[in-house]
Amino acid sequence: MSVDWSKRKATAQLAEMAAGDTVLLAGWVHRHRHHGGLVFFDLRDRSGVVQVVVHPENPAFALAARLRPEWVVEVRGQIALRETAAVNPKIATGRIEVVPSELAVLAEAAPPPISPSDEGEIDEGLRLRHRYLDLRRPQMQRNLEIRHLALQTARRVLTEQGFWEVETPNLTRSTPEGARDFLVPSRLAKGRFYALPQSPQLFKQLLMVAGIERYFQVVHCFRDEDLRADRQLEFVQIDIEQSFVDREDVIALAERLTVALVREVAGWEVPDAFDRLTYRQAMDRYGSDHPDVRFGMPIEDLKQRAEGGVVPFLAQALGAGERVVALNCPARLSRKQVEEMAERSGLALAWLSVEAGETKGSLARFFDAKGAGAWGVADGTLLVGHGVGDEFLQQMGGLRLRIARELGLIPEGRHQFVWVTDFPLLEWNAEDGRWQAVHHPFTAPLDEDAEQIESHPAQVRSKQYDLVLDGNEVAGGSIRIHQRDVQERVFARIGLSAEQAAEKFQFLLEAFRYGAPPHGGIAFGFDRLVMLMAGMPTIRDVIAFPLLSSGADPLTGAPTEVADDQLQELGISVRPPAAPGRPDPA
Ligand code: AMO
Repeated sequence: MSVDWSKRKATAQLAEMAAGDTVLLAGWVHRHRHHGGLVFFDLRDRSGVVQVVVHPENPAFALAARLRPEWVVEVRGQIALRETAAVNPKIATGRIEVVPSELAVLAEAAPPPISPSDEGEIDEGLRLRHRYLDLRRPQMQRNLEIRHLALQTARRVLTEQGFWEVETPNLTRSTPEGARDFLVPSRLAKGRFYALPQSPQLFKQLLMVAGIERYFQVVHCFRDEDLRADRQLEFVQIDIEQSFVDREDVIALAERLTVALVREVAGWEVPDAFDRLTYRQAMDRYGSDHPDVRFGMPIEDLKQRAEGGVVPFLAQALGAGERVVALNCPARLSRKQVEEMAERSGLALAWLSVEAGETKGSLARFFDAKGAGAWGVADGTLLVGHGVGDEFLQQMGGLRLRIARELGLIPEGRHQFVWVTDFPLLEWNAEDGRWQAVHHPFTAPLDEDAEQIESHPAQVRSKQYDLVLDGNEVAGGSIRIHQRDVQERVFARIGLSAEQAAEKFQFLLEAFRYGAPPHGGIAFGFDRLVMLMAGMPTIRDVIAFPLLSSGADPLTGAPTEVADDQLQELGISVRPPAAPGRPDPA
């Protein structure tokens, strides 16, 4: 007899139903047990679970006893109230149970290699190999629901603000985001390649020249870079571009979108506008361009104190042009702890603490308790480092995070956004011996710094802004250059001749000749944002079918070798990989 599935209820709907109501349910057997002569099983669907109880006199008893986890079943039955002692406050349907009048098996299931009812750690290779089972786990279903809700909210907010969703191509040419490209060989033009977009940067700027004014796209981007917890080779951006705007307009729009997302989807309380740090402030205070500002312990500059010469080697370091800085850690650390932290941060650390009126640590001989107090040491440990440049500050920033994690200083459950602005426009690439764009070569310099592109390239700040959430870069963008002369000067500074620039970006530069409006935009790393909203440790947990950090997909086996005739058609021959330690056989 065919079933009228339109009558099917989701288990979550049952929570509000009354004893005696009849229901049609279908889903998977989550947990199954015999207890006191009865059969109990939890029926699971996308919305949750409900307990089904089958008494020995029930005609469905024999079948119910035979059920196994992950079988797909259909249940018709009546709602019954559980006895008080059996009420389970942890689940939405914990007040009731279902007594079946009919039970049918829609599909049997082999014993699953991973169990959706397992709440413990499961090997990730196994999870991805059987992702369809992994995705049955309630946590993963919740993650995908959060992702879905976030997408709908983003689309709604941007549409309300007058943005149009426009798609841009995936088979295209290299974009200037600075990672390695994924190449796709062309069969029709042998020996030529498309590049999968690292971002739709050039196309969205063309859309501004085209007069679209407000564009957004939920777009897959491809970057061949080393994978980490917050990186995939293929990831999704919410990409935005707008004409006739300056930095404040893009920031205000991004705040409106972000606030809507985290309030509606994650239920977080956040202010309407976020704090801001310049790149310089972020580096000096936190040793990071994506600082976690949920806790204090900023890097302190000890210049004035060290100048006094109390500690001769610090005064010397200052004299040699180094910076002397410290972290005032709120706990008294042991020598072993300090040594371990110094080693893991790659820093030579001096340290000082005071216990029972006695100074301790490698700086103890220079201070009595009062002197230590004057350097800010109270109940904790002063960790002092010296060095040059932003790399040194980054090491101090790494140390700050390590201490915070180990001492539990990070308030979990609190979330804080911060903008980082005024990034440097250019950075020196020592390997290639040339200047390069920090963001991409279309990022505009700050108006007041533009004069120095030729004379002091390192000093030029840009109109780039990044949005940081709890120490994670979740979005980045900039106001673009739209004046031809400024663009040419930036190209010249990064060593692109007019011909080279024309060869690489010819279509964009040509388009700019025909009336480019002032424009700028931003792109959100959507997976990262969803990961943080869902409270997950990696972006793989919020992507339905991600790759392992090795780049492999254990489900499909990708990447795979391909048949010779497929390669031949593309005019490609594959060199055998070089044996380890041997030069490439080319
Ligand atoms: P950007 O390169 O900063 O900017 O990228 C924007 C955001 O995308 C996320 N992201 C990633 N997420 C997962 N895996 C990756 N491999 C990965 N790489 C980046 C980050 C980042 O903040 N075209 C510019 C945007 C613009 O200027 O408008 C761009 O792509 O969260």
